Amino acid sequence: MRMYDLISKKKNGQKLSEEEIKFIIKGYTDGEIPDYQMSAFLMAVCLKGMDMDETIALTMAMAHSGDMLDLSAIHGIKADKHSTGGVGDKTSLIIGPMVASLGVPVAKMSGRGLGHTGGTIDKLESFEGFTTELSEEKFFDNVNQMKLAIIGQTANLAPADKKIYALRDVTATIDNISLISSSIMSKKIAAGADVIVLDVKSGSGAFMKTLEGSVELAETMVKIGNGVGRETYAVISDMNQPLGSAVGNNLEVIEAIDTLKGNGPEDLLDASLTLASYMVVGAKHAKTPEEARELLLGTIKDGSALKKFAEFVRAQGGDDRPVFDTDLFPKASLQKDVCAKTEGYITGIHTDEIGMTSLILGGGRETKESVIDLSVGMKIHKKLGDKVEVGTPLATLYANDAEKLEAASERFLCAYTIGEEKPEVPHHIYGIVTKDGYKAY
Ligand code: URA
Repeated sequence: MRMYDLISKKKNGQKLSEEEIKFIIKGYTDGEIPDYQMSAFLMAVCLKGMDMDETIALTMAMAHSGDMLDLSAIHGIKADKHSTGGVGDKTSLIIGPMVASLGVPVAKMSGRGLGHTGGTIDKLESFEGFTTELSEEKFFDNVNQMKLAIIGQTANLAPADKKIYALRDVTATIDNISLISSSIMSKKIAAGADVIVLDVKSGSGAFMKTLEGSVELAETMVKIGNGVGRETYAVISDMNQPLGSAVGNNLEVIEAIDTLKGNGPEDLLDASLTLASYMVVGAKHAKTPEEARELLLGTIKDGSALKKFAEFVRAQGGDDRPVFDTDLFPKASLQKDVCAKTEGYITGIHTDEIGMTSLILGGGRETKESVIDLSVGMKIHKKLGDKVEVGTPLATLYANDAEKLEAASERFLCAYTIGEEKPEVPHHIYGIVTKDGYKAY
């Protein structure tokens, strides 16, 4: 087999066999196929596409390029959840304890990643002493005992994806459904869960800006997962404004804790319950999402999800006292209200700009080496459709550096559009994709 011939085949719109795709992924991961040939191939995929068989073959070849986590030492059906990434998305912190409280094992591998706020692991490091560097044995033991544990992503998880993603990033080959879905699903499949629930974000702050594109991505990932024996669901949720009102690491943890106490924002609670209900159904602990939802709500009402969260933080070395008293989290030294300059209705929020505001404050990572300031961020007071007067606070920003606070305030104002007419506000969930296809909410 020659890479030249395979590039040519894809360029002419022909279908590649599983063997040919395996040859490409193995050759590129091992360094035998150079970047320039892989770049040409990725561009041919973007222009000519891949069908479902090819996309599944690509996913599995990437998943098998490194460690395949074997979770069989954990009893029961293991469920995992993954978000395609959104601003103010702290649902994992709420879902894990709720689902685990019902006895469904959640054995999660999470990343840090670059972006406007830290990943789930960075957020959990708000608890002093918390670590995700557990041995495999300890990880399995914790899940068996308390049904919830999180470890950091191992370096050898889908190494082919890591290499290909870096190349896609600089060759304008990111935005292809087969490439995105195989990238996400290869990591999820290698991480070993039996049930995978995907939160596919749609809108200004998301990878996929249109609902049509988000549904196509979700359908492809659900077909891949189910096609290789993992029960997979996707919830399509809105990212035209942040979920909940907190953006920033500690602030998001506090909002998650408030939600576990039953005092969280409605959209955040509802999104968390919806995602979690499919994990519970997939793990056969409930027959319908409605039944699962009732059970999950029960874990908030009776306090068991909150207790589970504290138990989990403690088991991974963290100081769990802030779970019961969030005033114990370190506070930013400066704060400022950013206020509306005109009156009217909030007609648009550029969620990307909110993310940039958080990054400017120091809440995210620009490079892998950046150190996150866990205490900075913002609380958003006004969302789409809200009426404001001149001087109404849109958000409160928290910072530890006066210059950054000024720059972030200016950037934040760019995120808001205020108009005369009250806009139609989309529901925060558009619909669900199961093996039977897409169903609008
Ligand atoms: N997230 C991933 O992991 N891969 C993509 O290609 C896009 C988003």
